[in-house]
Amino acid sequence: MCGIVAYIGHREACPVILKGLRRLEYRGYDSAGVALLNGQLNVYKKKGKVADLEAFIADKDIHAHVGMGHTRWATHGEPNDVNAHPHYSTSERIAIIHNGIIENYAALKKHLQQQGHEFHSDTDTEVFVNLIEEIQKQNHCTLEEAVRLALHEVVGAYAIVVLSKDAPDQLIAARKGSPLVIGVGEGEFFLASDATPIIEYTNEVVYVNDYEIAVIRNGKLDIRTKEDVVQTPYIQKLEMELDSIEKGGYEHFMLKEIFEQPKSILDSMRGRLELEAGHLNMGGVRAFEQKFMNAHRIIIVACGTSWHAGLVAEYLIEDLARIPVEVEYASEFRYRNPVLSERDIVIAISQSGETADTLAALELAKSKGATIFGICNVVGSSIARATDAGAYTHAGPEIGVASTKAFTAQVTVLTILAMIVGHRRGTLSDVKLRELMVELYTIPQKVEKALELDTEIQQIAEIFKDATNFLYLGRGYNFPVALEGALKLKEISYIHAEGYPAAEMKHGPIALIDENMPVVVIATRDSSYEKIVSNIQEVKARKGRIIAVVSEGDTTIPPMAEFVVEVPHTSEVLMPLVSVVPLQLLSYHIAVLRGCNVDQPRNLAKSVTVE
Ligand code: F6R
Repeated sequence: MCGIVAYIGHREACPVILKGLRRLEYRGYDSAGVALLNGQLNVYKKKGKVADLEAFIADKDIHAHVGMGHTRWATHGEPNDVNAHPHYSTSERIAIIHNGIIENYAALKKHLQQQGHEFHSDTDTEVFVNLIEEIQKQNHCTLEEAVRLALHEVVGAYAIVVLSKDAPDQLIAARKGSPLVIGVGEGEFFLASDATPIIEYTNEVVYVNDYEIAVIRNGKLDIRTKEDVVQTPYIQKLEMELDSIEKGGYEHFMLKEIFEQPKSILDSMRGRLELEAGHLNMGGVRAFEQKFMNAHRIIIVACGTSWHAGLVAEYLIEDLARIPVEVEYASEFRYRNPVLSERDIVIAISQSGETADTLAALELAKSKGATIFGICNVVGSSIARATDAGAYTHAGPEIGVASTKAFTAQVTVLTILAMIVGHRRGTLSDVKLRELMVELYTIPQKVEKALELDTEIQQIAEIFKDATNFLYLGRGYNFPVALEGALKLKEISYIHAEGYPAAEMKHGPIALIDENMPVVVIATRDSSYEKIVSNIQEVKARKGRIIAVVSEGDTTIPPMAEFVVEVPHTSEVLMPLVSVVPLQLLSYHIAVLRGCNVDQPRNLAKSVTVE
């Protein structure tokens, strides 16, 4: 949610920053801007995408070795040129970029207006930069000191970078609650919301912690806490490959990521599923073995697609490990007064590892003594660092805003977790464990096979691209898949869609069904197959247009459905990994046919760092 990038060193800053902004555009794309320091402190910003900013600055003097840029996902104030970042202070001697929300901005603004500060935008960020200016004026202190003192006054979340005309070779950054990474090169430094703008220059990075301030000047990085205690920067090596953040010949990141799933699922199993040796390993689970053995309850907190992966895990863990599971929206959990004990394990699931609600939910659970286990994709992310133990999904960078490969990697990791815990607790027999391991091993090939349905699904998409509503139905393990299919369609094609447990349909949604309603039914062969066949009959009796996802070789459902998509058969507990694939493809093709911006759907951002 908002991307920030900054550079200080021997290169021309602006091209580095613009390239970085393009990589971060998945975080927000309402407007973009840069500030460049070259004797002057020039700010250029524009509503729209980074491409609009590039066109705007084409005839400007952009020569500078120090600068910063921002791509925005609007919170305070509509997307326009004025609300775009960077923001100047009143004197225009200081500029700031900000990712996050300052909650007490209204009170600060009132006070600053009384001191004579002028405001041009509707943003909370403009308050931050004026606060720094006011503190510097009052205390006759350095910029660094003013930033430090300002951090004591703001309430909320931030990752900021500050430049001042009076400090020409200096870049100051700070964070609380929003991500910030510093790339350390040879006499040069890169700052960004994540490592993607950095990896082509250096693989050495420092993750800034909450309440830390980084000052870069004279080729040196100085990190202190906001209490002014000097910290030793911990330099880590990045393992990300440049290829993994490029489109690699695909038209969209989303399509590339859908097609990457055989590999990303395999990567998420690597070192964990050792079929020949007959072992399942997961370091985080091993570290918590006794906790899992004795757990009274597992509570899963997550948002969006990750919440859907959590629902699959509820079925898996209860089925295989016989531990009661509750799946909670992190945004609700954090604001009620949940009953938690030290015998509870809270699993936080997050692709980005930065989702503000999920982070707050796990902090709450921690404060109540629960054990926290994280499942994240982004290495070094805030949630990964805030948990007691956990497992990375290793799906590789996910850039398309609509989550696809992260979901299947999360489900894979959760499956392995449930299998390990179930086996250790004695609720999953050696024989059943072995059977599931063998079957899990075949999943990447089965997903590969499901991807061959692409052309067939494109044809179905042609037929339904103008629909205004969709219903997705599933039962058991395929119920979360129905929810996920509906979410994918909504977010990228802007068609209203609802996911429902198929049997629940007759308690309301059945009233929606008529001859115009496309109904996607995920009806693979499993323990509720006969039941869902009856549900299909109910839809058919009301003339709904049935698109059925069935197991290969099914002969019962095809005569009832208008369209049938056959996926390879697998065990019921592993089916979501396969049955979700045609739904991802369906939403992708419908969105493309409707001319929607698949990788950057309106109003969304990849990493939701505000609540
Ligand atoms: C949907 C989607 C979102 C995210 C949600 C949680 O395609 O991408 O619903 O799943 O914002 O994000 P993470 O997993 O990063 O916590």
